[in-house]
Amino acid sequence: MTAPRAPRTPDEPRAVSAFWPAGRQATGEETFEVTNSYDGRLVGTVSVPTPAQVEQAVAAAHAVRETFAASPAHVRAAALDHVAKRLTERTEEIARLISAENGKPIKWARGEVGRAVSVFRFASEEARRWGAGDAQRLDTDAGGTGRLALTRRFPRGPVLGIAPFNFPLNLAAHKVAPALAVGTPIVLKPAPATPLSSLVLGEILAETELPEGSWSVLPVPNDRMPALVRDERLPVISFTGSGPVGWSILDSVPRKHVTLELGGNGAAVVLADWSSEADLDHAAQRIATFSNYQGGQSCISVQRVIADASVYDRLLPKVVAAVEAQVTGDPADPTTDVGPLVSEDAARRVESWVDEAVAAGAKLLTGGKREGATYAPTVLADVPAGVTIACEEVFGPVLTITAVEGEAAAFAAVNDSPYGLQAGVFTHDLQTAFRAHRALETGGVIIGDVPSYRADQMPYGGAKQSGVGREGVRYAMEDYTYERVLVLSGLDL
Ligand code: SIN
Repeated sequence: MTAPRAPRTPDEPRAVSAFWPAGRQATGEETFEVTNSYDGRLVGTVSVPTPAQVEQAVAAAHAVRETFAASPAHVRAAALDHVAKRLTERTEEIARLISAENGKPIKWARGEVGRAVSVFRFASEEARRWGAGDAQRLDTDAGGTGRLALTRRFPRGPVLGIAPFNFPLNLAAHKVAPALAVGTPIVLKPAPATPLSSLVLGEILAETELPEGSWSVLPVPNDRMPALVRDERLPVISFTGSGPVGWSILDSVPRKHVTLELGGNGAAVVLADWSSEADLDHAAQRIATFSNYQGGQSCISVQRVIADASVYDRLLPKVVAAVEAQVTGDPADPTTDVGPLVSEDAARRVESWVDEAVAAGAKLLTGGKREGATYAPTVLADVPAGVTIACEEVFGPVLTITAVEGEAAAFAAVNDSPYGLQAGVFTHDLQTAFRAHRALETGGVIIGDVPSYRADQMPYGGAKQSGVGREGVRYAMEDYTYERVLVLSGLDL
């Protein structure tokens, strides 16, 4: 356990950031730099673990797995509470770090730290409730006379958590907190573009009494990951990131328990009954905000707006006006809504997809311009089927808008996608809500709002190409564990 450190001055570049094999601070022999994609300035220098330090972390996770699983709930819950408290105390420093490493506007970065606090708090609450199990009488048949089944969940084994760049703290929290709550060790690998907030999480975890080996934070370069993915001492992999990488992990270790949280091309449906001026103003505002938050780099950002033909003509100008009102600029400025993408390459890819759609006949209603890593909030209408942006996840501040005739056509349009993460349906009608829940092939259906709504305790994950398994604190705890039944015999029931 290390003494809590005082918050750093937020904006100074970090000297070499250490990593955390088996919960101990260490540096390796190589480093890499993390830069701010808005202005190119150096945000920090990160030390890379050597193969021996990675081995130390994995061996320690393997060695501690049984004692950690048997540790008392109060020990795990207290550690999780401590992390929630320290994240709260260091919110401003960490939010500025997330904003600098990721390019996320500071107001969204503050929100992300707040969500990570909730994730650790939910995990501490769940840890206290977890594990009592279910009792079932077996004497419902003569052969079971005097028998009782007690079913409890036990860890599948140490977890390799691979986190993405778009929510560098909160999506790491979604991997680490549930693992610690159920008493399974975790080796966390942050994204190379955004490792700094995870390394600060390591500083905070090191202040707890969690046993050596129960957690590690290792900024391993992507090209050295295949060996770690194949390591049999890490039987569980929880990955959030791109489809091609995620599916290749699953294909490379088909016998491991692999959870994949991949992409989506989230649809917001506006149905005919959502038709007053106030309704449409509200929908347009939510659509504009959540098509552009994090520069559209969220798996549940609004990419497709599917509007009933009866409201389309009134909705369209409102959406364009609300998108144009998004303030684009320096992510450190508290008034900025939309910052840069994670890199200039990412912005160039978005630019090429929009240009392809426009060349094929799509109407550019606003945006369509790139400056460095920043891409202007963009609205496209009449997008021809088959262009890349109509089929793939854009992961940028771009939305397409389409008119359809009626609810069934709207739901069919949502499902006309290889992805199925979340969908939003603007309707006031409860029956429609239930029909949407049945019809939409997505992991979540959000009524009266955009697909981007996520509460961190609810189940979160995809259907189709959007992935397998579920996160959301308790759901990840279930995912990391399996049921083991204990049959008691000879009982006087
Ligand atoms: C994601 O991009 O999948 C995460 C979205 C969120 O947590 O809000």
